[in-house]
Amino acid sequence: MKKIAVFVSGGGSNFIAIHRQIIQGNILGKIVMVFSNNPNCGAIKFAEENSIPIFIINAARYPNAHTRDEFLLETCLKAEIDLICLAGFMKMLPQNIVKHYEYRILNIHPGLLPEFGGKGFYGTRVHEAVINTGKRESGATVHFVDEIYDHGPIILQKKVEVMETDTPESLAARVLKLEHELFPEVVKAFCENKIIMENNKPKILEYNEN
Ligand code: GRF
Repeated sequence: MKKIAVFVSGGGSNFIAIHRQIIQGNILGKIVMVFSNNPNCGAIKFAEENSIPIFIINAARYPNAHTRDEFLLETCLKAEIDLICLAGFMKMLPQNIVKHYEYRILNIHPGLLPEFGGKGFYGTRVHEAVINTGKRESGATVHFVDEIYDHGPIILQKKVEVMETDTPESLAARVLKLEHELFPEVVKAFCENKIIMENNKPKILEYNEN
């Protein structure tokens, strides 16, 4: 059973999707703690309701970033975390965590990386850019996290068609629905030790498209 730490900042729908698959017994893992910069977000409410330990790690609590980073790593080490999931975490993950947990941190992005990623490409901005550049397809990406924003090796992507009539909001809603399938699928594979690195690229063993 893998021990999972989830980092959140927003509504928490991806976190909830992963949690649901765990409760249903589809993922061999346990969410043992949730970290957030935002104590008032939907994700934190869900963690409270489900008695998952919460850690708020914003500048108000930790004026000293170094102290915060040390605390974060120590907390993860003490809890023997196997996997970190960034589920709508709007802050850069501290470098000490990124280094220590190489190939053990997953992020979900609401676009088809490497396009429409990096600084400034978050939330509706991704969907606006996709529509404004006339793309016919978009989707979601789960990748390992490295030191650069939205840059780490891509594990899995799922695509959706972009309709003529799409607004950033309608596209966002369709992509988010896809994210709720994609993210738990990758977490499941990780928890079953089915994600391996081959020629510096992640590969999911026995992966079945459907
Ligand atoms: C998702 O679109 C995710 O791709 C992005 O932030 C959003 C989080 O949504 N990184 P939620 O908090 O999981 O509902």
